[in-house]
Amino acid sequence: MDISSRGLLPELLVLDIPEVDAQHEAIFYRIENLKFHCIEQNDLPEAVVGDLLDYLSEHFATEERIAAARQLDFTDHARMHRETLTTLRGWVRVVLSGQRDVFSFLRYLEIWFERHIREEDQPFAAELHAREARTGAMS
Ligand SMILES: [Fe+2]
Ligand SMILES: [Fe+2]
Repeated sequence: MDISSRGLLPELLVLDIPEVDAQHEAIFYRIENLKFHCIEQNDLPEAVVGDLLDYLSEHFATEERIAAARQLDFTDHARMHRETLTTLRGWVRVVLSGQRDVFSFLRYLEIWFERHIREEDQPFAAELHAREARTGAMS
């Protein structure tokens, strides 16, 4: 498969936090890659979805590290990250056991990811940029 990750991050979802934007783009890429494999196999490839979940975990840790470095309160956001991983792992289990179909999971994943950026990460970015403007720090 030849999906380039460049251009997969919609302009409206850019946060101007380069490390986080690059990871969001890489997550869009991984979701596209997972969709491709699911359609090809009509099944959920465990290794591919496992790689996506591992990467999400790393991504959440990155956001938490950036927030900690700027002393921003990230408690609720971090809790959402943990709940998300639990929910997604639960989804993977039920799909792999045949209780739910893979395409419902893919729809959930895509909707969740855009919502994660709009509802959790955009307010975080706004707070981070405001803090940087006050302190003169660069992201
Ligand atoms: Fe994020
Ligand atoms: Fe987040």
